[in-house]
Amino acid sequence: MANSTQTTSKIIKPAVILCRIVVGLTFLFSGFVKGVDPVGVAIKFKEYFVALGIDILTPSSPLGADFVSTFSISAAIGLSMFEFVLGAVILFGLYRKLAPTLAVLTMLFMTPLTLYLAIENPVHDCGCFGEALVLTNWETFYKNLVLTVAAIFLLLYNHKVRDMYLKSIRWIPSLFSIIYVLTISLIAYVYQPLLDFRPYKSGINIREVMAQEDVQPEYIFVYEKDGLRQEFAIDEAPINDESWTFVDRIERMPEGVEEKIELDFGVRDNDVDITDDILSDDNYTFLLLVPSVEGYDNSWDDKILSLYDYAFEHTYNFYALTPDAEELSNRLSEMGISFPCYTMDETVIETIARGNPAIAMLKGGILYWKIAPRELIDMSQYDSDIQGTPLGEIYEHDFLKRTIIILLIYILPLIFLYLCQEAVVLLVERVKAKRLKLKENSNNTNYKPKKIKTMRKNIVAGNWKMNNTLQEGVELAKGVEAALNERTPNCDVIIGTPFIHLATIAATVDTKKLGVSAENCADKVSGAYTGEVSAAMVASTGAEYVILGHSERRAYYGETAEILKEKVLLALANNLKVIFCIGEVLEEREAGKEFEVVKSQIEESLFNLTAEDWSKIILAYEPVWAIGTGKTATAEQAQEMHAFIRKTVAEKYGEEVAEETSILYGGSCKPSNAKELFANKDVDGGLIGGASLDVEQFMGIVDAF
Ligand code: 13P
Repeated sequence: MANSTQTTSKIIKPAVILCRIVVGLTFLFSGFVKGVDPVGVAIKFKEYFVALGIDILTPSSPLGADFVSTFSISAAIGLSMFEFVLGAVILFGLYRKLAPTLAVLTMLFMTPLTLYLAIENPVHDCGCFGEALVLTNWETFYKNLVLTVAAIFLLLYNHKVRDMYLKSIRWIPSLFSIIYVLTISLIAYVYQPLLDFRPYKSGINIREVMAQEDVQPEYIFVYEKDGLRQEFAIDEAPINDESWTFVDRIERMPEGVEEKIELDFGVRDNDVDITDDILSDDNYTFLLLVPSVEGYDNSWDDKILSLYDYAFEHTYNFYALTPDAEELSNRLSEMGISFPCYTMDETVIETIARGNPAIAMLKGGILYWKIAPRELIDMSQYDSDIQGTPLGEIYEHDFLKRTIIILLIYILPLIFLYLCQEAVVLLVERVKAKRLKLKENSNNTNYKPKKIKTMRKNIVAGNWKMNNTLQEGVELAKGVEAALNERTPNCDVIIGTPFIHLATIAATVDTKKLGVSAENCADKVSGAYTGEVSAAMVASTGAEYVILGHSERRAYYGETAEILKEKVLLALANNLKVIFCIGEVLEEREAGKEFEVVKSQIEESLFNLTAEDWSKIILAYEPVWAIGTGKTATAEQAQEMHAFIRKTVAEKYGEEVAEETSILYGGSCKPSNAKELFANKDVDGGLIGGASLDVEQFMGIVDAF
């Protein structure tokens, strides 16, 4: 257990943070790029439906192409939202159980699916990062394996690291993430993607890029001589000169040729390729892009007609491009429109611009802009040359600037929220500390509050039992002290350590802030009792407390009520405060004897004390069946027994003494149940076993006050 404490802080916590970053950012990125271009994702979906033979959702579905489009686009927006928000909550550590559970379930679905895609290759690019980052199916599978492992790790250990936002406000970053990604998706759907990851960016010179498609890379040979490296062209390589050693061969595009972009821009007029005619035309050329005649949205026909009329009047070109020119021609003429229609591959049309239809403009092979028809201005108001209109300019798409702005719109409000949260927390802590100080000051005066309960101390005490080497123990104690320094606890905090640690820890920590306790002491004053540690020895270390009567000592080391009576007396004689444990075993509770048992444990070992001595006794009710078992006494059971114990003390020493006695509860006390237990009027804190070995858990219990 000691090792587990160290492992938690040294390995698990950084690993949790790393996994949150890896899984969170991957999901965020994946959701973001899908949200930026939901139409692209919907197209990919259709590709999947066809490849996987899901007839009902293929474009030829009996439900109609409209249904498939609506379904695909809704699914695309839904998926991007799911991934983005899941990524956000994982990255920020919110919903620490639910989020990794959803991530694991998603990965358990996606990983086998991508394995199938990798083996069968029905679609070449899985589309998980939209057009932003194209991975091969195998790369996607390996990526998913890593994510699955990281998500499972988070499922197991995510609770070890704090959330970035408080539980009470975590809905704000979650809702903000939903609104953000939904807005991006809707803008992309209604207009064009806010960020264009596709090759046809406005400003691209299609003619030049296509001319470069045939350019082959040059091979450069690297040789080494006397530790010096030199590059050679293929025909200059010193193949026959043995003083040179071959090192590497590099592929490099000739100067002036940038990275290869495949455009596949091709237009046919029946069987005649008119691509060159269009690309080399220096006249303005409007393109009406119709990826599917069936799904053509004719709501914008008036605007498009006005553009056509404008082009006609100014002798600019106007081409409608579609996979089936004849079909489009017929469809348009049914609506009383007649445009010159030409054939272009559906995928190319969809890659140039999103929307059915979309409109683009070329001049001299350069793509000036591309827009959704709703963005088209009414061209009938212009009788001037296009240069005098907004349509005559190349639409500058500064990718980097845009990316930064879009990301900042998301990140800045989240940072602001975080800073507000931290400021409020700090303020609240300050106010609390001030109140506590006022309370302490008032306690120092003659004023005695009417309710005696306020006089007794709330205490959270750890009992490390036989765990931790000296070094681990010192580190744990330091960790607890550091955590205490970060807060103002509403209770006294004590750690009970094995003898071996006592002196070092008592000398290391500030015992005024963090009390130190032994877990036992001898029932003899001193002398030939090999292996024993006396109360005086404990006191000499600087420890202030000793735990006595723990059920484990009663059960495994034969400590009887008589022995404990001796130990208590010796401890008190050496000015130690005693945390005295009492509690019934399961059979006794089942037999309804718990009150009887507890009462006699108190009577037999403690009721010989004077009232003055009694003020140094802290009681700890630890039902033996709840210790280390994960079974906690219910809040009602604890309150019932604590009230009984207080009554028993009151009968012997009077009500005032009883009201001043702190009675702690022990047995599977955790951060999750401490608040409920401590809320009871007679439960004044806890004696904590397992959870005291982990700083975060122990503090979770301290914070319950
Ligand atoms: P657990 O908190 O591990 O159940 O142990 C309780 C205990 O025995 C404290 O003394």
